[in-house]
Amino acid sequence: MKVGIIGFGSMGSMLMHKFLEAGTVLEEDLFISNRTQEKLVEIFQKYPKVNICNNNADVVSSSDIIFYCVKPSDMREVAESTKKFVRKGQHICAVNACIRFNQLNSLFPDLSCSIVIPSVTGEVNKSVTLAAFNQQSTEKEIACIKTLMDSFSSVTIIPENELGICTDLTSCMPGFIASIFSIIVEEALSRSNLSKEEIHNMIITTILGTSKLCVDQKMPFDQIVERVATKGGITEEGTKVIRSDFPQIVKTLFQHTKERRERTMLNWAGYFSKKNE
Ligand SMILES: NC(=O)c1ccc[n+]([C@@H]2O[C@H](COP(=O)([O-])OP(=O)(O)OC[C@H]3O[C@@H](n4cnc5c(N)ncnc54)[C@H](OP(=O)(O)O)[C@@H]3O)[C@@H](O)[C@H]2O)c1
Repeated sequence: MKVGIIGFGSMGSMLMHKFLEAGTVLEEDLFISNRTQEKLVEIFQKYPKVNICNNNADVVSSSDIIFYCVKPSDMREVAESTKKFVRKGQHICAVNACIRFNQLNSLFPDLSCSIVIPSVTGEVNKSVTLAAFNQQSTEKEIACIKTLMDSFSSVTIIPENELGICTDLTSCMPGFIASIFSIIVEEALSRSNLSKEEIHNMIITTILGTSKLCVDQKMPFDQIVERVATKGGITEEGTKVIRSDFPQIVKTLFQHTKERRERTMLNWAGYFSKKNE
């Protein structure tokens, strides 16, 4: 199986490294392009047999599965400039939560396509990859994408209408978690003589331990709260504040990400209506 990656940024480079580390794709079966060619030089040093392509068309022409790993704002141009090189039997994989199958299929008619959303935590082999497939996708293609992504993450297949909330819960979540804890670090800093590093270490060890309780002992979140927040105790005082003030923040967060996603999708819709005029 020959695999193409267009866009060697955060996601494209992670996919390349993970496929090669796991051995799911051979170096010589991987085809990669990027707008800024200099970025691809590093590949030669570690993986000399990987095919570095001068343009996106070469990636498309040489591959069975093509991962489009560019930002949503660049996707139009890349899809438009490569569509004439795509042929039946290939599988298009959009690493983009703001595109939908009717749009992908208007560019690549009748082609089997998927929308695949990895997470940056895949770098440490602990992540969920979301995958949605269009009707043209065959069992074999679905199995193929699953094998590729399963090698470093846990694949969850979802319908395309759930992509929004599911990306908030997976690929966006490391950013949300890190934002919350960076605020906690700042507040703890202002209330003690501890160093930032000491505070950081206390928190990350506790986050890891909490995750392990959930995973190893199958403890749901509310049970952990119950175990720690004894009635009338200090933790309970804190959890009451979270219960009363945090839900509104979460509501606003989900609303804002939804609206931001919808604006990006509207841009796409505008492009398609112009194209069809
Ligand atoms: N980052 C995440 O955690 C994450 C998680 C899940 C999904 N995603 C999705 O993954 C996609 C890629 O995101 P990213 O974070 O990897 O973005 P990124 O780091 O900005 O990488 C995008 C890459 O695309 C390249 N590119 C742009 N236009 C191109 C063109 N015409 N031809 C070839 N390459 C081109 C850029 O090249 P240059 O070197 O010239 O800039 C850059 O290397 C997005 O749809 C994003 O929403 C991201």
